[in-house]
Amino acid sequence: METKKIYVGSAQCGMKLASDVYDASSRLIVKAGTVLDDTIINKLNIYSVYSINVVVDAIKEEKVEYKNYYERLKETEEFKGFKAKFEESVDGLRSSLNAMVTKNVMVDEDKMLNDVKSVIEANKKGSSMLDMLNCMQGYDDLTYVHSMNVALISNVMAGWLGMSEEDTKILTLAGLLHDIGKVRIPVEIVSKPGKLTDEEYAIIKSHPQLGYDILKDMHIDERIKKAALMHHERCDGRGYPNKLKGDEIDDFAKIIAIADVYDAMTADRCYRKGMCPYTVIGHFESEKSVYDVRYLMAFLERIANTYVSNEALLSNGQQGKIILINKFKLSKPIVMVGNEIYDLSVMKDLEVERLL
Ligand SMILES: [Fe+2]
Ligand SMILES: [Fe+2]
Repeated sequence: METKKIYVGSAQCGMKLASDVYDASSRLIVKAGTVLDDTIINKLNIYSVYSINVVVDAIKEEKVEYKNYYERLKETEEFKGFKAKFEESVDGLRSSLNAMVTKNVMVDEDKMLNDVKSVIEANKKGSSMLDMLNCMQGYDDLTYVHSMNVALISNVMAGWLGMSEEDTKILTLAGLLHDIGKVRIPVEIVSKPGKLTDEEYAIIKSHPQLGYDILKDMHIDERIKKAALMHHERCDGRGYPNKLKGDEIDDFAKIIAIADVYDAMTADRCYRKGMCPYTVIGHFESEKSVYDVRYLMAFLERIANTYVSNEALLSNGQQGKIILINKFKLSKPIVMVGNEIYDLSVMKDLEVERLL
């Protein structure tokens, strides 16, 4: 692989990094192999990186590659408008959460909900909210962007579950506030790249209780407080902090748990081109006992059905069209390849690898 050292000022979208990039205090900020885009170039500038090593033929390689579903979506005006609104709303959320934690300011529910609403409205034209979120790239901001994502995903779930307007508001707020305890944890631990020590992991695991303590005396719905406390509990009793089981966990906390894991799975966006929804569904299907099946299946069924009629690439390299979803194995749809019908649920080694 031929590489070249260039100044960040001459970096261009599409170039591929040949080596890891560190900031002045030796913290990894961008991994080798990352293809540069505007967000990453901006990040290099913010961290005052002087020069980088790039792969010489990277631009050629990128240009011949076929653009997939998410790459095409990212280029639409609709997505660009959505992204701008999203970033503005995350700024609002950041100041609201910080004021609550550091100045003991009471939660301003209307302001917080308006921030979410403006993002939802920026996406009125109909593309799936989850697709939009899957296209967001390169954020290191672990708590605020994630909290906005979880609020938006929960809001979508509320609609799919047929919740009332009032419950939808409360669930959305629960999403915004579920990780507020993390604001109290030193940022070096929350955003540490790589493996945490046992001690650091124990500190991270204190965030549900810390969050509950921040919210407990506020005049907000009890379900919001419980979501902060219980969103890492799991139906099989293997969660934390209190190892609760099944019905002991509040319903809203169970829904937030699904949105939380969904976002965590699709979050490492910097280094790849959008995770295939069927891969995400497959992960959840293998962990059914961990989540409340009523909420989980409602969520997964809707996602699986979104992509009927989409072209897809299969793991054996063949292309086909998704024609039908199998209710009992949502990650393994029926796909038309040429004139043949492939039922992936009975073809063990074959998967939908990505949407085209
Ligand atoms: Fe959490
Ligand atoms: Fe979370």
